[in-house]
Amino acid sequence: MPIITVVTRDGTGRAVDMEVGATLMEGLRDHGFDEVLAMCGGCCSCATCHVYVEPASPPLEDEDDLLAGAAHRRDNSRLSCQIILSADHDGLRVAIPPED
Ligand code: FES
Repeated sequence: MPIITVVTRDGTGRAVDMEVGATLMEGLRDHGFDEVLAMCGGCCSCATCHVYVEPASPPLEDEDDLLAGAAHRRDNSRLSCQIILSADHDGLRVAIPPED
């Protein structure tokens, strides 16, 4: 199971063990990171699951279009509902952006 470090808006970091096959958004919600609102439930229509990931990975096309409207977009922005977790995500670092 991938161990992922999550940094919240106050700068606090916590390493959590997430489930392979779940989305990163689901993993964040399951571990109580309520700053990630995920209002559309993961259907790529709200962008309230926006996170910064390190190492960066390119967004999918629909995701990229939605991120274009995000106020705090960076080069390493992703929608956490569009990342399906695998063992390769072990060591991923995720930061929650400022609230839009
Ligand atoms: S939960 Fe709405 S876009 Fe990810």
